[in-house]
Amino acid sequence: MKIKSVKAREILSSGSTPTIEVTCKLNSGIKGTASVPYGASAGIHEAFVLMDGGKRYNGKGMLKAVGNVNNIISKKIIGLDASKQRKIDETMIELDGTENKKRLGANAILGVSLAVARAAANQKNTPMYQHIRNIFALPIKKFILPNPMMVIIEGGKHADQSTDLQEYLVSPIGSKSVKENIRSGIEVYLALKRILKEKGLSVNVGNEGAFAPSGLPTNETPLKIIKEAIRKAGYKAGKDIGISLDPAASEIYIKGKYKLNKENKKLSSEQMIDYFEDWVNKYPITTLEDPLHEDDWDNWPKLTERLGKKIPIIGDDLTVTNPKRLQKAIDLKAINAILIKLNQIGTLTETVDCCMLARKHKFMTVISHRGGGETNDTTMIDLAVAVNSGFVKVGPSRGERVGKYNRLMEIEDELGTKAKVAGKDFKKIV
Ligand code: PGA
Ligand code: ZN
Repeated sequence: MKIKSVKAREILSSGSTPTIEVTCKLNSGIKGTASVPYGASAGIHEAFVLMDGGKRYNGKGMLKAVGNVNNIISKKIIGLDASKQRKIDETMIELDGTENKKRLGANAILGVSLAVARAAANQKNTPMYQHIRNIFALPIKKFILPNPMMVIIEGGKHADQSTDLQEYLVSPIGSKSVKENIRSGIEVYLALKRILKEKGLSVNVGNEGAFAPSGLPTNETPLKIIKEAIRKAGYKAGKDIGISLDPAASEIYIKGKYKLNKENKKLSSEQMIDYFEDWVNKYPITTLEDPLHEDDWDNWPKLTERLGKKIPIIGDDLTVTNPKRLQKAIDLKAINAILIKLNQIGTLTETVDCCMLARKHKFMTVISHRGGGETNDTTMIDLAVAVNSGFVKVGPSRGERVGKYNRLMEIEDELGTKAKVAGKDFKKIV
């Protein structure tokens, strides 16, 4: 299992921004390749993405990160055992030496971390989800497959002139099969397309493959239209299919207030909590992610106290897949569920540690794609299966998104009766 070579390349991500792909080759000749996504509305506490600056790709080139893999990281890890994932990740963290991976870049480090895991899984001829359970000796026996969480209307930084809030999602939970839950979600997405067309609204899609019409009068309108789409597709809102929200509130926070341009409003944190409480009472809302700013620590616990008994309150920019920030959120009772993105923290080991810390506190995990720049890498799905996540958050169209659902359906086939589906029990940690 000795690592023979590690090579990085600059590739393109879905948002026409470069990213990094790494191939790890073992002495046996077996290889593993992985690529790293890129977030459009990244939280300020995320691990550092090293970009080149200068003219190439408007400063977003990744040749420096590529160079760091090929010239610095590779020297340290060639010869190590690829099945010792934790040791390899710790070696890179130490080599970087900064709190947020600023020296070598989290993009460089994550690329290597995932490529090593892939190579070792390939060598053992083990599916990636099982490999993740094995290398970290996860104390999880059953397989509970995640429900889809599909972004179907997007705004904020992910679109142009759409809603102030970033994401409106459908969360199909009604079926005991992944495939059927994916199908119902897609049918709602297509019903929504017909409704938007009837209303004379655009059906062009944003970053994540969701609709992003400009003529929506308020931020509440999508909730009404999505409810209608669920009904028109033949499903029961709340029972078969819930609505999830990711307002990505950090993006609309200006000078201590939440700015809702559509409604010409500037709301305080207290008023934002009221705003969402009203929606939770009126609509079949299943989960609520990043309803407040990433450092509004005083108000998250108030929101979770009020709404957390009804629905999971998910931290994303608040927690950035960082076990330290998650621990703070646990201590303050700021959330009761967490969004997980591998490149927010920058190694597979720390990502799995964050998932396991969440599990220990009975917090549901949701493994997520990135808005701005996805690749065809599907490791996020195997991770979700490895840790029994409640949902995977991915858009319903565009190749780099649906590839993730296709991987999930493939795993469902592979596991057969060995796996159950989270379904309505998504809050139960098994
Ligand atoms: P990002 O957004 O990947 O563009 O940061 C997705 C999210 O906020 O969940
Ligand atoms: Zn988010």
